[in-house]
Amino acid sequence: MEIEDLSAVYEIEVEAFKNTTWTMEAYTRELVMNKFAHYFVMELDGEIIGYTGIWLVVDQCQITTVAMSRKMRGKGYSHILIQHIKDFVKPQADVISLEVRVDNTAAMRLYEHNGFKYGGVRKNYYGEGLDAHVMWVNLND
Ligand SMILES: CC(C)(COP(=O)(O)OP(=O)(O)OC[C@H]1O[C@@H](n2cnc3c(N)ncnc32)[C@H](O)[C@@H]1OP(=O)(O)O)[C@@H](O)C(=O)NCCC(=O)NCCS
Repeated sequence: MEIEDLSAVYEIEVEAFKNTTWTMEAYTRELVMNKFAHYFVMELDGEIIGYTGIWLVVDQCQITTVAMSRKMRGKGYSHILIQHIKDFVKPQADVISLEVRVDNTAAMRLYEHNGFKYGGVRKNYYGEGLDAHVMWVNLND
């Protein structure tokens, strides 16, 4: 992901996360200032259709976001994003973790089908009583 990708990324962001707290400035900071952050876009025929990001700190990797434009969902493209993350971090990290809203069935399926296991619940992680599952995958399994 490059700065010039951000308007397309942000269109997908607001479509994917109705009440997103991530601003364009937040994305810019991630790309420019956060040396632990790595963000990737997926393009189809020159158009950005999805993206994902991670924080990779020493041997710890956390997925910070994954989103696919609505019209491109259900085609398996997100599997490619997750596989890319796994390949990218494998030389450095053993485990990838993430948080996912307990009612986000599509995302939980995506992670389950990529080997992620449930590792506990973070109560009220999203506020307003909304909990998160912690999920993780061991890349050496
Ligand atoms: C989660 C998200 C990225 C999945 O993208 P996608 O490209 O549609 O996912 P895929 O087509 O690769 O499908 C992933 C798996 O989830 C399943 N799935 C997709 N939508 C589903 C739904 N609404 N209900 C149940 N399962 C669903 C698919 O069948 C697929 O399973 P498979 O491995 O058996 O094929 C997409 O729904 C999205 O952008 N959602 C909004 C943002 C979001 O919630 N991101 C995750 C934050 S943790």
